[in-house]
This record gives sequence, C-alpha cells and structure tokens, in this order.
Amino acid sequence: MGVRVQCCSSFFFFFFFLFLGLASKVRGNGSGWDSKQCDWFTGTWVVDESYPLYQPDTCPFIEREFRCQGNGRPDLIYTHYRWHPLACNLLRFDGVDFLEKMRGKSIMFVGDSLSRNQWQSLTCLLHSAVPNSNYTLVRVGDVSIFTFTEYRVKVMLDRNVYLVDVVKENIGRVLKLDSIEGSKLWQGIDMLIFNTWHWWSRRGPTQPWDYIQLGGQILKDMDRMKAFEEALKTWGAWVDTNVDPKKVKVFFQGISPSHYNGSLWNEPSAKSCIRQKTPVPGSVYPGGPPAAVAVLKSVLSTIKKPVTLLDITMLSLLRKDGHPSIYGLTGASGMDCSHWCLPGVPDTWNEILYNLI
Ligand SMILES: *[C@@H]1O[C@H](CO)[C@@H](O)[C@H](O)[C@H]1NC(C)=O
Ligand SMILES: *[C@@H]1O[C@H](CO)[C@@H](O)[C@H](O)[C@H]1NC(C)=O
Repeated sequence: MGVRVQCCSSFFFFFFFLFLGLASKVRGNGSGWDSKQCDWFTGTWVVDESYPLYQPDTCPFIEREFRCQGNGRPDLIYTHYRWHPLACNLLRFDGVDFLEKMRGKSIMFVGDSLSRNQWQSLTCLLHSAVPNSNYTLVRVGDVSIFTFTEYRVKVMLDRNVYLVDVVKENIGRVLKLDSIEGSKLWQGIDMLIFNTWHWWSRRGPTQPWDYIQLGGQILKDMDRMKAFEEALKTWGAWVDTNVDPKKVKVFFQGISPSHYNGSLWNEPSAKSCIRQKTPVPGSVYPGGPPAAVAVLKSVLSTIKKPVTLLDITMLSLLRKDGHPSIYGLTGASGMDCSHWCLPGVPDTWNEILYNLI
C-alpha cells in the first residue's frame, strides 16, 4: 500500500511539475498583462452594514474634495456597500496585515486626481487600522509622501496627469508623447500604480499644453484617443526597459468613470449624479464601458513585463451614487461626478489591490 502511494504521488508530481513548466512557458511567451488571477472585477454591489471600512473621523486628513459627509451629504447608504465578485471570495481589507506585508517598502501612485483619490483612500484605510502608530505627511514638489514610521512604509503620490512630459519651450508648452523624463521619480519604488485618462479630453483654458509633439512632428492638436494611446505606448516601453519584476510590482489603475448622463444607466431625466443614492443593480452597466478602456487593454497586451490591470471600470460604473456631486470641493456651485467620496468606492479598489498582493 505504502509503495503504491509513493508510486502514484511521484507520478502525480511528475505531471504536476510538467504542467507548471508548461504554464510558466505560456506565461513567458504571452503578454505580461496578468490574466492568471481570478476575475475580481465581475460582480455586484451588496449592502453590508459592517462597511464602510473606516469612519471619516478616524481619517482626519481626508481632503475637502472627497469629504462628502463633512461637506453635508445627508444620505449614507452609499457607504454601506461591499463589492461581491461573482467568481471569487474577496478578503476584507486588513490594514495591519497590509502594513506587515509591505514593511520597509514604498508604494507610489502616479497620475491625476483619481490617483489622489485612491492614495487618500489607502492612507485612510491604513491609518484607521493603526490609529496610534506615528505617521508623517510631507510634500516635495509634485510628490506627497505619507510614511507609517513604525512600519517604514511609504505611501506616495506623484501628480503626473499624462505620464509623458509637458515641457515649456519657446513656442509654448509642448505635450511630448515620446518623452517620459518624469519617470526619474519612479526609480527605486517597490510598488507602482499608474493612471492617466481624464486630462486627455481637456480643451480650452484648463488644457495645460499648447502643442503636441509626436516623433519629429509638432502639432496644434490631434485625435485625443490616439494621443492617449501613443503616451501609453511610451509608458509601456519605459516599463519594459526599466522595471525589474523581481523587485518591482506594477499596476495600472483602470479608467475611472464619470456619471453625467443618466441615459447611460436608463434614467434619461438624470443630467448628473446628484441625488443618486444606490448603485445600478446587477453586474452590467447599460451604457457599457468608455472607449478608452479598449485602448488601454490593447496597449497593456503589448507590454512584455508583468503589469496588473486594476480593472475597476465596470464596478465603478455601477456606482452612480458614489460621487461627491455638490458635496465636493466647490459645493453647490459645482457638480463633481468624476471623483469619489471617501469613505467610498476607491476603498474597494484598494481592497482588491490588497487581495492581489
Ligand atoms: C511617536 O512619536 C512621539 C513623538 O515624536 C514619540 O514620543 C513616540 O515614542 C512615538 N511612538 C512610537 C510608537 O514610535
Ligand atoms: C447621453 O447618452 C445618450 C446615449 O448614449 C446619448 O444619445 C446622448 O447624446 C448623451 N447625452 C449627452 C448630453 O452627452
């Protein structure tokens, strides 16, 4: 009997390792884009009274822009939703475990205000888990550094809205789709989480460039989706040239959606997200994902080094109730259906990030 077991288990192990070998070959040849994970991104929102993961008063540094309750938002049901993936079991965020896993390491979000939204969420999630542990928050140029001193964990934000460079030249400010000097700030970081999208459609006075450079050509403007794609390719080439996957984990925070058109969630009378109190039920957003998602996925599939897409678009599309609306930075004179209240949806992005590391 004992002999038989031995025979069969070594037989089993032979095939097991053969399988592992084949699997790693397939991965090695294929794209680095992480598809081996379980699908965390298809699911539905369920009410769970044990959420939110922290209370606003346990996170004193939430910026006014995201501090919806503090700005007078009266309804709170939106804070009690938990993301429920259909095919996997999402572990509840554990801040102490996260800090232990990252002890001595650095995390950097790179991108626009949606990166700031996720960065703030992560600092709140961690601080509320260890409220008596010392922290420091400093800003050096475009980089904000939140340090959990006891754990020597740095959670940083590099504000860089296009990932590629905008350079002041004699003709004006030039958005250089092939130039990525800003990447100097990303060297030596253990975990990088990139994002860019919302600024690509800017026009008029808030557009922060006058010309676009692509190759040797200087252009007054070009198709914005194409420009976005070119910049992503430049970023992808940077990843392939500079990232050592043994040392650095790279994520891309997917496209974070806005809610300014109720037709897209079968409520044509809604012209914004105001007074939206509950998510879209089910797992599918009637209006479908924004076109930028397909462009992003296509560029990610060409990158050879491992990059994990935090594919948060669909789960966030369902959350028409998660934005500040008039309870954001500008109050009643504005309407913010792009950023997210905290506590809120970005906590789920970080909860998924926690499950991925
Ligand atoms: C936190 O900082 C204070 C003041 O610098 C210091 O007295 C205290 O020992 C620190 N606590 C820990 C746990 O490091
Ligand atoms: C809202 O979405 C609908 C459906 O896609 C579209 O026909 C309409 O033009 C959009 N409205 C605005 C103001 O963009």
